[in-house]
Amino acid sequence: MAEKSEVRWLLAIETSCDETSAAVLERGQIRSNIILSQDEIHAPYGGVVPELASRQHLKSIDYIVNESLERAGVKVQDIDLYAVTQGPGLIGSLLVGLTFAKGLAYYFKRPLIGVDHLEAHLEAAFVENPDIEFPALALLVSGGHTSLYFLDKPLTYRLLGKTRDDAAGECLDKIAKFLDLGYPGGPIIEKLARGGDSQRFHFSVPKMKKPGYDFSFSGLKTAALRVIRENGLKRDHLALADFLASFEEIVVRSLLEKVNQAIIEFQPVALILGGGVARNGRLRTGFSRLAAENNLPAYIPSARLCTDNAGMVGALAWKKYRWGEPLRLDLGLDAYPR
Ligand code: KG4
Ligand code: ZN
Repeated sequence: MAEKSEVRWLLAIETSCDETSAAVLERGQIRSNIILSQDEIHAPYGGVVPELASRQHLKSIDYIVNESLERAGVKVQDIDLYAVTQGPGLIGSLLVGLTFAKGLAYYFKRPLIGVDHLEAHLEAAFVENPDIEFPALALLVSGGHTSLYFLDKPLTYRLLGKTRDDAAGECLDKIAKFLDLGYPGGPIIEKLARGGDSQRFHFSVPKMKKPGYDFSFSGLKTAALRVIRENGLKRDHLALADFLASFEEIVVRSLLEKVNQAIIEFQPVALILGGGVARNGRLRTGFSRLAAENNLPAYIPSARLCTDNAGMVGALAWKKYRWGEPLRLDLGLDAYPR
């Protein structure tokens, strides 16, 4: 990898879903990482409303980018390289960030690197642990995705399996919505499940028709809805904490079972966790325990780097640059929803 000293300041933008985020990196180190969540806007609907999300990005992007520059103590004209999430995500939301980044790069005549959102989530673990060993096994669990990857060297991602229906986060969000607990459901469920008996309600890990590493959460969701109806569970029901703890437990077990299977087959030397659901305490503990049982190190980003943020986007762009990605301003760079 050739040493390139000309890039000092990098500005990254992330608007793939409902967080408007901008980060400034100095020689690959995050100097600012501003995240504006739209949770309050989408909460009344129990999920992200795409049209509202893109409008809100439009309103906030200028302010968030300025804030990230200010916090890093750098002027926009000093930025040497731009990075932006191209996809996957909501097309209208992605286009706001992409167009904004293109505009800046074009005006200041600087190169622009497009980044994949899922790869950026996996990169989050490297921000705090740059020396993760390869091959590594990586579990990505977010609101839109649940996937397992095998990384045999930096910047290579072999998809072993993904969810065939709902993502794990989406499943938590939907159960919370059904119980009228609020949005986003994952952190609310985690809070309300605290102290609950995770063995009280019995769910089984979904069985896939085909062997392999694909996940499925829609069957679990249906089973949970049945339990809710049969037991008349609602917001202030005495058994709610037990139910939520049991449900959280089965979601975590379903995820970890596949990870365990892949450890046996692929013999990684490190485990990586990423995505918004990686903030969950039960998942973090279970993942670390599984790693320890296999004498493997587990790399789990701190909470702020788990959910959508431009810091991880900048970190990945920096790595791509360092590993030789040609620097240019491609105004044809397009957003991709999937
Ligand atoms: O990665 P992310 O910010 O956005 C996507 O790319 O999807 O993930 C958002 C997801 C939501 O489904 C949210 O409920 C879930 O992450 N989440 C959690 C927790 N915090 C966020 N799930 C479980 N426990 C949490 N503490
Ligand atoms: Zn995400």
